[in-house]
Amino acid sequence: MDSLLFRSDTLARPGVEMLPGSLIREVAQEGLGLQGVIPLWFGEPDSVTPGFIRDAAKRALDDGQTFYTSNYGIYPLREAIARYQGRLGRISAPERVSVTSSGVNAILLACQTILAPGDRVVLPVPAWPNLAGIAAVVGAEVTAVPLRLHEARWQLDLDELLAALTPDTRMVILNAPANPTGAMLTRDEMVVILAHCRRHGIWILADDVYERVVFERDVAPSFLELADVDDRVVSINSFSKSWAMTGWRLGWITAPPALMSALGKITEFNTSCAPGFVQSAGIVALEQGEPFVAAMRARLQSRRDIAADLLDAIPGITTPRPEGAMYAFMRIAGCTDSLALAKSLLREARVGVAPGRAFGESGEGCLRLCFAVEEATLREAIGRIAAYFRMHPLA
Ligand SMILES: Cc1ncc(COP(=O)(O)O)c(C=O)c1O
Repeated sequence: MDSLLFRSDTLARPGVEMLPGSLIREVAQEGLGLQGVIPLWFGEPDSVTPGFIRDAAKRALDDGQTFYTSNYGIYPLREAIARYQGRLGRISAPERVSVTSSGVNAILLACQTILAPGDRVVLPVPAWPNLAGIAAVVGAEVTAVPLRLHEARWQLDLDELLAALTPDTRMVILNAPANPTGAMLTRDEMVVILAHCRRHGIWILADDVYERVVFERDVAPSFLELADVDDRVVSINSFSKSWAMTGWRLGWITAPPALMSALGKITEFNTSCAPGFVQSAGIVALEQGEPFVAAMRARLQSRRDIAADLLDAIPGITTPRPEGAMYAFMRIAGCTDSLALAKSLLREARVGVAPGRAFGESGEGCLRLCFAVEEATLREAIGRIAAYFRMHPLA
């Protein structure tokens, strides 16, 4: 396996083969041949996309929406996105919105548009591996700012972040609510960060894909509520999590007007555009999806509570109650090799979790469990984890 993922006798350009392979996929790969595994390693809802969105895509196909669209997406979707953002109190306009083929594609496009090789990028960690990975793909140098587990919360030290945001920094990537920690930024923190970045001309890339997957509220605070149109703020969003559309690969970027022309060019050389019929389904998701989003949030909040309560009751496991996203990111006492532990849990307990190290060195000693599953499945999985740690008591 390793030899396939990390071959050094490569035909690829220098540097590509050195990109880290996904440790989450490494565990999942091992699980493929095993019977009876409960897979909680990836971050996606276990329910299919709601019928009204699937029907919209079918109608669009039957209407013949099988052609290329504008690089920025079909205008009705850009309008629908701007209206949706307006409903959430964000400042937007169709001309500032560019439709992408997923959130991850949006991040890559934004980074290719803004970053040059050698640029300094600051990233709070533990972080979703693709954020550092994409920065590496465009040759940027990532400086990590570690979150700390304090009073049962994953917390970012604002002073530490600001100290890392030096004038030679090109971009800070902020994902809140965060994968894997569920950590949020407050509106007050955003005000301070925005003012600091304005002073130094630093780009803020806000990964907002979990903005609707928040608990005890409707929506997370956003830089788009605070920033002027010309501020160096780019917001990334996606249909994957809020509308259970991971496999559709549809997302969007909200950017300042002065970035749009370059973004369109980069999109042309990438996917050129997202599929038209998928974009039409996106309009329906935005315009008719609020009841679904509310139900999804309530369901995930109850799963979050079950996961946090049951995991925290296992001696040696500390599970902060995340404020958003769909993951329990738990600290395992005495664990120094989360990859080995995840593989052992897979083999012995038949539960698939992600190793904390997949999210950077500061995630070592932790495991991530996605709780976006049926309650009975979640209880069964955590029961198996508890039984595993009864057999292998923690330090
Ligand atoms: C933090 C974060 N950002 C962006 C994405 C991208 O989602 P997608 O590419 O499915 O839109 C994910 C997916 O897991 C994520 O966790």
